[in-house]
Amino acid sequence: MVNPTQWFKSAIPRAPVAAGDAASNARASDERRFPSTSVVVPIRSIGPGQRERILDHLLALEPHDRYLRFGYAANDEQITRYVDQLNFERDELFGIFNRRLDLISMAHLAFSIDPQYTSCAEFGVSVSKSARGRGYGSRLFERAVMHARNEGVTQIFIHALSENTAMLKIARHAGAIIERDGSESEAHLRLPPADFDSRVTELVNQQVALTDYHLKVQAKQFWRLLTVLQDIRQGVREARERARG
Ligand SMILES: CC(C)(COP(=O)(O)OP(=O)(O)OC[C@H]1O[C@@H](n2cnc3c(N)ncnc32)[C@H](O)[C@@H]1OP(=O)(O)O)[C@@H](O)C(=O)NCCC(=O)NCCS
Repeated sequence: MVNPTQWFKSAIPRAPVAAGDAASNARASDERRFPSTSVVVPIRSIGPGQRERILDHLLALEPHDRYLRFGYAANDEQITRYVDQLNFERDELFGIFNRRLDLISMAHLAFSIDPQYTSCAEFGVSVSKSARGRGYGSRLFERAVMHARNEGVTQIFIHALSENTAMLKIARHAGAIIERDGSESEAHLRLPPADFDSRVTELVNQQVALTDYHLKVQAKQFWRLLTVLQDIRQGVREARERARG
């Protein structure tokens, strides 16, 4: 979870580099850790223009989910401050939109602000209650991992409460090392360097997601137009009936 108050300060020093995690072992397990997904979920990188949708998405989280996401029971004001302070130039945010263009899942990949840990990033995610269990959380993690690799990140961290089975499963499936410290857990995953495949896949994924988003925008505008036309027709019909007496 990306905690707006703790950010990286607490994350990096507590996270040791995995002992004996040799490059060859990392390569051998890449296939298991970074599987290619058969179902394409359009995940797009999102910018400051989506701030309002991000806020709506996070404010809709129930109190317990806010607690799981931020590590404390964030109130509306704290969430609003977090959204206001998002740095879209430094960090990367990803989103999944439904047909109505509501943001139903989002992830925040926060790059280290500590010059000593420039190759580290922290991952936080939330999925709307109605969209859970469809693999969106896992897909967002895979997407963030790919982007992180392409940006030269070598380690990704996730802070989660130990009770957060779903989040810890996502991390474990990706091959992360999980260290439990009472009610809190920290997962860290070493990433292989970027390659041709990771760069091309990210470009293609972003293009697919942007196309999907623009199609949804057009469909929404079209439905709005149809509704207006229908209202006009209805108005004309009613006026005719009134004129007939
Ligand atoms: C954690 C969260 C992002 C998971 O999103 P999701 O889209 O439902 O997750 P997925 O569908 O990708 O499922 C991931 C794994 O967790 C499992 N899972 C999902 N919900 C679960 C639950 N409530 N209990 C146990 N396991 C669960 C899935 O079966 C899957 O495991 P599998 O791959 O072995 O089948 C979502 O529950 C959420 O937004 N929680 C509130 C915020 C939060 O906890 N954020 C994480 C901290 S940063």
